[in-house]
Amino acid sequence: MPFANIQEMPKLGFGLWKIPEAEAASVVYEAIKVGYRHFDSACDYGNERSVGAGIQRALNEGLCERSDLWITSKLWNTYHHPDRIEQALERTLTDLGLEYLDLYLIHFPIALAFVPFETRYPPEWTFDPEAVIPVMVPEKVTLADTWRGMEQLKSKGNARHIGVANYNSGLLHDLMNYAEYAPEVLQIESHPYLTQDRLVAMATQYGISVTAFSPLGASSYVELDMAVPEESLLEDPVMLTIADRHHATPAQIALAWGLHRGTSLVVKSVDSLRMQENLGAVDIRLSEIELSEISGLNRGRRYNDPGQFCEQAFNTLYPIYD
Ligand SMILES: NC(=O)c1ccc[n+]([C@@H]2O[C@H](COP(=O)([O-])OP(=O)(O)OC[C@H]3O[C@@H](n4cnc5c(N)ncnc54)[C@H](OP(=O)(O)O)[C@@H]3O)[C@@H](O)[C@H]2O)c1
Repeated sequence: MPFANIQEMPKLGFGLWKIPEAEAASVVYEAIKVGYRHFDSACDYGNERSVGAGIQRALNEGLCERSDLWITSKLWNTYHHPDRIEQALERTLTDLGLEYLDLYLIHFPIALAFVPFETRYPPEWTFDPEAVIPVMVPEKVTLADTWRGMEQLKSKGNARHIGVANYNSGLLHDLMNYAEYAPEVLQIESHPYLTQDRLVAMATQYGISVTAFSPLGASSYVELDMAVPEESLLEDPVMLTIADRHHATPAQIALAWGLHRGTSLVVKSVDSLRMQENLGAVDIRLSEIELSEISGLNRGRRYNDPGQFCEQAFNTLYPIYD
């Protein structure tokens, strides 16, 4: 039986962003082997076929059943038009080799002009990467229309649950006014340097479950030149002291903090030992004082900000949080 409701979603999930297509099958297989049962995929990650192969290998070898796995994927920006949404989900399902997703999220509150599958898949951010100055080309589709398309997928059952990612509080309030099916999950960047307490509290008040991405902070963004090693959360003296006290690693403490505050998390590692280390976070019990010390590190540092990277990388001003 598939998971009955969102409360059954495994709280510590495995992230699939930036895992090269050539490695994703073996990484996913290994992650299932060490115990992950929740995977966070997306069309935009460009590796769904390989992720599907890893899942299939684990199923074939009897490591688990399909119904033991919680698989999330995300609707890319170029498929926001209601006529494209089902097509986008079908492509993701085909690539993953699955009949249904446990959760389908709107990846960003950003609608971009449609790019046919045959032209480019995944389409990424700019409309024509070969142009002299490649830019993003927005499409006039409201988020309400896109949400109605998502609701239809839920009604049909090929996406068991639906939700949104990268929504701010204003968009979420608005969504709650027009949704027939309320979003069940809000996926946002959150770590001790970006706690987003009010957004988390607001979502919780609406009965929406919050999943934190990039729970290790800068770690994911140094390789993209979107963060510098000096701002590593994992070397913060507060994290090091608490880690030392628990005979744990700072990464485990960051994850344990996220779990204690009631969010689920998705964390990525291509390294088998780190995969296991990260899973170990579920057994760590932090005191109230430790939790508030870690929350006190908040400095509103957002790494994944379209207002920054769209301008720098795609020659397009497209802030969504300002
Ligand atoms: N909805 C969205 O817009 C959105 C945006 C970003 C991310 N996400 C999702 O969230 C997932 C997780 O976020 P993320 O990948 O950005 O960042 P993350 O999981 O916080 O950090 C990943 C980075 O930390 C390293 N790492 C992992 N475990 C470690 C450990 N125990 N000690 C030290 N370093 C460790 C990894 O390196 P190694 O791999 O070499 O171990 C990698 O460089 C993504 O994979 C994706 O599924 C969603």
